[in-house]
This record gives sequence, C-alpha cells and structure tokens, in this order.
Amino acid sequence: MNHPSIHWAEDLTGLFTPFAQSMSEYSKIYLIIDEQVSTIWLNDLLEQCPEIHQANVMEIPNGEEGKDWDILKHLLDQWVDDAADRQSLIINIGGGATTDLGGFAASIFKRGLDFFHVPTTLMAMVDASLGGKNGINFHGVKNIIGTFEAPNELIICPTFLTSLPDEALLSGMAEMLKHGLIKDQALWEALTSLDEITAESLTPFIQRNIQIKLQIVEDDPFEQGERKLLNFGHTIGHAIESHFLQTDQPKSHGQCVALGMAFASFVSFHQKMLKLELMDEIVENLEDLYQLSDMSLPTWNEIHFYLLQDKKNKSGNIQMVLLKQMGKSLFNQSFSFQEIALLYQDFIPFIQTKKIPDSN
Ligand SMILES: NC(=O)c1ccc[n+]([C@@H]2O[C@H](COP(=O)([O-])OP(=O)(O)OC[C@H]3O[C@@H](n4cnc5c(N)ncnc54)[C@H](O)[C@@H]3O)[C@@H](O)[C@H]2O)c1
Repeated sequence: MNHPSIHWAEDLTGLFTPFAQSMSEYSKIYLIIDEQVSTIWLNDLLEQCPEIHQANVMEIPNGEEGKDWDILKHLLDQWVDDAADRQSLIINIGGGATTDLGGFAASIFKRGLDFFHVPTTLMAMVDASLGGKNGINFHGVKNIIGTFEAPNELIICPTFLTSLPDEALLSGMAEMLKHGLIKDQALWEALTSLDEITAESLTPFIQRNIQIKLQIVEDDPFEQGERKLLNFGHTIGHAIESHFLQTDQPKSHGQCVALGMAFASFVSFHQKMLKLELMDEIVENLEDLYQLSDMSLPTWNEIHFYLLQDKKNKSGNIQMVLLKQMGKSLFNQSFSFQEIALLYQDFIPFIQTKKIPDSN
C-alpha cells in the first residue's frame, strides 16, 4: 500500500490546484460529503474550486449514520445507474465517517476507483484519512467490514477546522493524545499543557501527528506488528462506542477512545508495567478533558458481544496495547475474556472515584 504525499492547502482556493490537470482527465468526479459539511462548506467549495464545478455531489447523513450498509448501497446504486466507469474519481470531503465510507465504496466499486480524501475534522486530519483503513459498521459493530486502500491524494486544509464544534475538536485530540502516549512523550506533555483547546492551539500539532501515524503505517501497512500500537484504547473504546451507538445518546469516537485509554492504563498499572503516578497523570488529564466519570458506563454484559467481534482477538483471547511509560507501549498483550471482565468490573468504580479498589 503506497501512501500519497500530503498536499497542504492554506485555503479552499488552493485545495485542488496541484491536481487540476490530472482531475480534468477523469471521466466523472463524484464528491461525497455529509449533510452538515455540505451546509457549511459546499457553496464555498464550488465557488472557489473550479476543478470540481462539474462534480456530482452525493450527500450522505452526518457522521456515524453514514457508515452504514444502506448508505453504502445507495452510493453503489447511484454509480451503477450512472454507469460510472473505472476512470471515475471519488472525492471524500468530511470527517472520519465520510472518509471511511467513501474510501470503502471507492475501493470496492469495479475493483477500485481512484479516490482523494479531504479531511475536515481534526480526527480525520491526524488519524482517519491516514493509513488506508476504510470501512463501515455492520450489525451495530464498528468497522467490521472494510478494506485497506490508501487514497491517491490526501489534502489537508486546516481552514475547515474553523467551523468544527468543540466536541469534535476534543474527539480528534484524543487520537493525538494516543500518539503521544504510545510513541512521543514530548507530544503528550505539550498537549496536556495547553491553556486552551482550540483549533488554533491544536493546528500546530497536526504535522507531528501525521508523521507519527505514517511512520508506523509505512513500516507495517497491514497491521502484522507495530501498527497494532495504534489500537491503544480502542479495544474497550470501540465496544463502548458500539454500545452507545445503539442508544439515543451516542458518544464521540474520541471520548470512547479516551475512556479506552484510561482502561488500558489501569490494566497496565494492574500488570505492574506502569507506575501509579503515571497512571494517575493519564487518568486525571483524560478526566479533565472528557469528564469520564460522568459517563454512565455499560455493564460487562452490555459490551461482551462487541468485544467478541474485535478484529484483534486471537485464539479466543483479547489482545491489548499496554503502556510502560509515556511514549513507550507494547502490543499483543493477551488476556482471557474472564480476566478482562474482572478488570472492567474494578475499573467502573475506579473511574468514578479514582480510588484503586485494593487500596480502599
Ligand atoms: N480509518 C481509520 O484509520 C480511522 C481512524 C480514526 C477514526 N476513524 C473513524 O472516524 C470516525 C470519527 O471521525 P470524526 O470524529 O471526524 O467524525 P465524523 O466524521 O462523524 O464527524 C463528526 C461531526 O462533525 C461534522 N463535521 C465534519 N467536519 C466539520 C467541519 N469542518 N465543521 C463542522 N462540522 C463538521 C460532521 O458532520 C459530524 O456531524 C469514526 O467512525 C471512526 O471509527 C477511522
């Protein structure tokens, strides 16, 4: 899997400038965009980017609702009706849900169309649009169907962040904190020392985060080894996110990953890998940013089904990523379901009271 070089655009005018010639050679251009991003940005995009004047705009539901079998089918149906050929180009403009869905649809139609990602959330800029993982949720389980296929072009334009709600900004920041915890202590320290969390304060860190993710992905594109580190916080995080998606109070991907990182740190401490003061520092920072103690956590039985579906499970065991210290992490830490169930049952009161169960 070859990852594209990244094009940084200062503003919308320059988004597609370097690709004007190659874009004019595609037979059709389809622009996949969710309703919210379309409402805020589509007019400006069409006004300021002549390269997409003739594009067919395909609107999808906002956020996670778009990563759905019926929506995928709707895109494929339209391409069939339109007799879209293999010289068609798909441009995905949006957050991680849009890049995941659009990348997946493009990668399976006629065995693969070219596609560009234009991420509009922090989450998509520092994580989802990088590394070539595409997919949708199925039977309520996150990302259970998908492909590995990198976009032909990746275009980063931080101007989009000016309209991003605080919740989405914090959600993206969770993946930045993850990069710090697994690989870069200085990044963790810089992010947790910020006086305020704004698009302006986080934008300078985008480049470093892209660098960390791409370095890991380039060494291990199909997740045979080190790429597994990027799953830090995602085992319990995905299960909890899937659970909340079935309720009328879904939680952001980042908030669930933050909770998953607190759990993984708790387990790391329990395994005597991570010192108490380091676990406390991690949990306190995540609590301040994501108010983890206010989340009404599902019971073990409510997340058990989702954990059974985890793509990383091996021989019936759960594979966790654990921490030794900030910036130093280990993958393939194997636990039985029973062990994780007991740890999770201890974790629920811990995250509410911050008291270690045995020290009461
Ligand atoms: N493929 C990967 O490697 C990978 C990595 C991390 C996350 N993900 C996936 O990404 C998704 C989360 O991504 P996300 O946080 O970007 O969520 P998202 O795509 O659901 O976007 C969040 C919300 O922000 C809105 N939005 C997007 N851009 C906006 C803008 N510029 N201004 C205002 N509103 C805007 C969207 O309409 C949506 O309502 C999850 O489905 C997760 O599984 C994938």
